[in-house]
Amino acid sequence: MTVGQVGRGGRALALLAAAALAGAAGCAREAGGSTPAQDDGGIVHVVCGATEEWCAATTAQFTRSTGVKADFVRLSSGEALARIKAGKNNPEFDVWYGGPADGFAAAGGEGLLEPYVSPNAAAIPARYKDPGGMWTGVYVGALGFCANTKVLAEKGVAAPASWADLLDPKLAKDISIAHPSTSGTAYTALWTQVVLGGGGAAGEDKAMQYMRKLHPNVLQYTKSGAAPAQMAARGEVAVGVIFSHDCVAAREGGFPDLAVSFPSEGTGYETGGVALVKGAQNPVSAKKYVDWALTTEAQEVGPTVKAYQFPTNPGAKVSDKVVDLSQIKLVEYDPVVAGKAKSALTKRFDIDVAQAPKS
Ligand code: G6P
Repeated sequence: MTVGQVGRGGRALALLAAAALAGAAGCAREAGGSTPAQDDGGIVHVVCGATEEWCAATTAQFTRSTGVKADFVRLSSGEALARIKAGKNNPEFDVWYGGPADGFAAAGGEGLLEPYVSPNAAAIPARYKDPGGMWTGVYVGALGFCANTKVLAEKGVAAPASWADLLDPKLAKDISIAHPSTSGTAYTALWTQVVLGGGGAAGEDKAMQYMRKLHPNVLQYTKSGAAPAQMAARGEVAVGVIFSHDCVAAREGGFPDLAVSFPSEGTGYETGGVALVKGAQNPVSAKKYVDWALTTEAQEVGPTVKAYQFPTNPGAKVSDKVVDLSQIKLVEYDPVVAGKAKSALTKRFDIDVAQAPKS
């Protein structure tokens, strides 16, 4: 969906649909527009950056648990930010849920979010939340490589074990990664290169150099971060650069040739966030949603729909399919610093490496 595709009819339909589902499941919403003037205390509109399945399961569970209706639109990180910005004077969403925290930090920096320290945030470790309450972490995921082992064997190439391995000319047009202007996953990959390059302006230059070198090997920059898993699954590319849990989900979905590997130089990770949208039309229900998203109940929904991120609430059960973060080399990833740099760096990527995909 592109920015500006907003219609009053869409919101009316969504409200009708939500009303029809009162007390039952949440629902996906096509578009938003005009909104009730005050919080009806009974509905929350979520812009959701996790997988469609997780967004649906979570909003449904929220409704079952709290009695508050919920609907969602699934958007990739950059698109969510653009859409929240476009609706600044008449917000169509109450809550932003899911997707890497650097997108939230960028939105907060533009005055688009309402700081909120939920009482339930006390349970979340400090490293997974913004000290000022701009966003709170709900899950953690590590970036990795998702290889189709069959395709690699045919090419006589080993599974990539480093960022440098991705530059192998034998992988020409055989890699897929999302575009950092639309996708939080891809921005995590880009910022990982900045960190590996030593950070600051020099790190940003090195990151661009790396991405330009990678470019000949990229068949397609997808809009959404998890899409390269499907391309690798179908053998359209040999390797997808994605969050490792998205590869595990694709493998479980019936593609046993997929295998996850991690780069030896170190990899980036996301803290998936939740935050209130500034000027939300339903602030009471929105806070209920944020409060609930931090509970163990909410954070145990993911694995029921093959979403194997690590929960930020230490009390939540951890599926054995979740990667053990202590076993992989992670870079120092500061979402606040990454968020500040996001707008300029993604514009630079558009110009220096590749244009963002059109819808
Ligand atoms: C998938 C992952 C999430 C991640 C999201 C980012 O849904 O499972 O962990 O937060 O991608 O989406 P994006 O499309 O912005 O890269």
